Amino acid sequence: MRILEDQHVGTNEEMVRKSLTRTGTIAAALEESLLVGREKEKYDIINLISNQDAHQLTVISVWGMGGLGKTTLVKEVYQSQELSVLFDKRACITVMRPFVLEEVVNSLAMQLDAASSYRKGNFEELAKLLEGKRCLIVLDDLSSIEEWDQLLPKLSKMGNTSQIIVTTREENIAMHCSRKPENIHKLKVLEYKDAFDLFTKKVFKDATNLDNYPGLAEEAKPILKKCNGLPLAIVTIGGFLAKQPKREN
Ligand SMILES: Nc1ncnc2c1ncn2[C@@H]1O[C@H](COP(=O)(O)OP(=O)(O)OP(=O)(O)O)[C@@H](O)[C@H]1O
Ligand SMILES: [Mg+2]
Repeated sequence: MRILEDQHVGTNEEMVRKSLTRTGTIAAALEESLLVGREKEKYDIINLISNQDAHQLTVISVWGMGGLGKTTLVKEVYQSQELSVLFDKRACITVMRPFVLEEVVNSLAMQLDAASSYRKGNFEELAKLLEGKRCLIVLDDLSSIEEWDQLLPKLSKMGNTSQIIVTTREENIAMHCSRKPENIHKLKVLEYKDAFDLFTKKVFKDATNLDNYPGLAEEAKPILKKCNGLPLAIVTIGGFLAKQPKREN
C-alpha cells in the first residue's frame, strides 16, 4: 500500500503498472541478495566475457582457495541477464572427482542440447549441431592440468565461438587454462563490510531490524577477524550462531 501511496500518479491503470514494476524490482533485488558483495568482481567478469572477440574460443579463469566463493560468483555471472542474451547455448558443470572425461562431456552435451539426437560418446555429432552457435560454458572446480588437457580437444571441436569460465583452487591451473594474464581473475577475501553483512544475514536470517542488537558490531568483530574474510568460515559460524538463542537489548 505504501508503495502505491508514494507514487503520486494520475490514473488507476498507471498506479497499478508502477506498483507492479516496483514489485518486480523488489523481487529481483531479493534474488540478487543471495550474493553478498562481489559486485565489482561480477561486473568485471561479465565485462571481460562481453568484450571478448566473438570468433575466438576464450577461457577465463577464476582461482583462489577453497571456500572463497568461486562457485557462488561464477554461478551469478552465468545466470546474469547481461550474458544470457549474448549466448545461444549455456552449460554449467561441476567437475566431479574422480575425473571421468566421458561423464563431463555427457553433462556438457545434455545441457548444451538436451533435446538433440546426441548419442553418448559421439561428441562430433554434438559439435556439428553447435556449429556457429555461441556457447557459454562453466567448468567449475578443475583440479588438475591433465583434466583440462583432456577436455580442451573436445571443447575445441565445438568451434571457436565459445567462451569458457573455469574455476580452480590452483594458480598454475588457471594460468594453464587461460594463458592471457588479463583473463585470469584471482578472487580475494571479502571486504570487512561485506563479511559483516554476510555474517548478520546468516545469524539473523529474516530479521530486518538489527537496531535491537546495538552491541552486534562490536561482538562480531573478533569472530570476523578469525574468519579473515573467508565466506565459508563466515557462513559456517553464522549458521551455527543462528540456532543459538539471541539476547535483545
Ligand atoms: N559472496 C557471497 N555471498 C554469499 N554467500 C557466499 C558468497 N561467497 C561464498 N558464499 C558462501 O560460502 C560458501 C563457500 O562458497 P563456494 O562454494 O562458492 O566457495 P568455492 O571458492 O567455490 O570453494 P571450493 O574451492 O571448495 O569449491 C557457500 O556456502 C556459499 O554460499
Ligand atoms: Mg567451488
